[in-house]
Amino acid sequence: MENKIINLGIFGFGVVGQGLYEVLNRTKGINARIKKICIKDPNKSRPIDSSYFTTDKNEILEDPTIDVVVELINDTEAAFEIVSKALRNGKAVVSASKRMIAENLPALYQLQAENKVPFLYEASSCASIPIIRNLEEYYDNDLLNAVEGICNGSTNYILTKIFEENLSFATALQQAQDLGFAETDPTLDIEGYDPKFKIVILLLHAFGTFVKPEEVFNFGIHHLNDFDIQFAKQRNCTIKLIAQCRRQNGNVFAYVLPHLIKEHNLLYDVYNEYNGILLESAFTDKQFFVGKGAGGTATGSAVLSDISALLYNYRYEYKKIKQNNQPSFTNDVKLKVYLRYKTPDQVDLAEFFNISEKYESTEWRYVVGTINLQKLREAGWLKNKDVNILVLE
Ligand code: HSE
Repeated sequence: MENKIINLGIFGFGVVGQGLYEVLNRTKGINARIKKICIKDPNKSRPIDSSYFTTDKNEILEDPTIDVVVELINDTEAAFEIVSKALRNGKAVVSASKRMIAENLPALYQLQAENKVPFLYEASSCASIPIIRNLEEYYDNDLLNAVEGICNGSTNYILTKIFEENLSFATALQQAQDLGFAETDPTLDIEGYDPKFKIVILLLHAFGTFVKPEEVFNFGIHHLNDFDIQFAKQRNCTIKLIAQCRRQNGNVFAYVLPHLIKEHNLLYDVYNEYNGILLESAFTDKQFFVGKGAGGTATGSAVLSDISALLYNYRYEYKKIKQNNQPSFTNDVKLKVYLRYKTPDQVDLAEFFNISEKYESTEWRYVVGTINLQKLREAGWLKNKDVNILVLE
């Protein structure tokens, strides 16, 4: 595609679509122009000329002059249909739909191979942080041990506002929604589903293992209360929602859970909608990536970077899948946690071993102990709003 102008067909004109429009307009050096934008609701007022818009997806998918389809819609099923059809029609595709990608990675991998067209999705994982391309290009060996960090901007924004400005959860969430960081359904953010989709994608590029999102345990910040916040502050810690995938004894495990983070941890200073990713590899110890993880232009810039990469025929090679020595996925790992609850009948302490701390007051109780991740996945008692859990470092 060198030296030619790329014609883009875009699906969706929400926060990210508009962010892309803005970064594209303000970036002079890129040979790409928007030909059509497919939207759902033709009656919604739009900030740009109506001639850009269509409600007929085939005006993009069947237009031979459109080289690249950019998929930025909310509806997971429709997004998968659009991406599959575009790839089958020989078009390169760029997408930011983390849920759709995480739920369909094997099929999307297959479609790229069968149709010999690139599918890029850097914006799906940590918005502005170029983490997928780094995992693909730089860490193409088996020395990588872990990918760990903050990959949800909304929850990091909420936690920052709670810890730094004493805002209430509800006010901070409302702000994250107003700023365009949160998902249309914000429970995906606050219950940790969104970062789970992202870690599933990163796990494939880090280790070459396909994992279904439902195999990965996620627990968010929806049960956090003032008692937990005080617990963290008394220990000079903050709380961050951490997603991680890590090798262990030849296997790899992954989860999303809130962690107590000490001041010396690089993730401690990742604030607001920023994301931070720590990579651990054999000879380099830790490497740290940080950048905005949500918002229109931050995400739009990652989409633009993918479009620009297509100009030099970039595609993911998925080298680690091809190396054929992928670790198997496991949930058999021990975690040291703080478990807060109200009454003993609300939890099952028999699941815990090495309980090192016990606290009781008239209002709240907690224990610090070790539990297997598989037990947490099965623990119905974590659904109780009086029960919260934090992983300790
Ligand atoms: N809702 C997501 C977040 C948007 O807050 O990180 C970016 O993926």
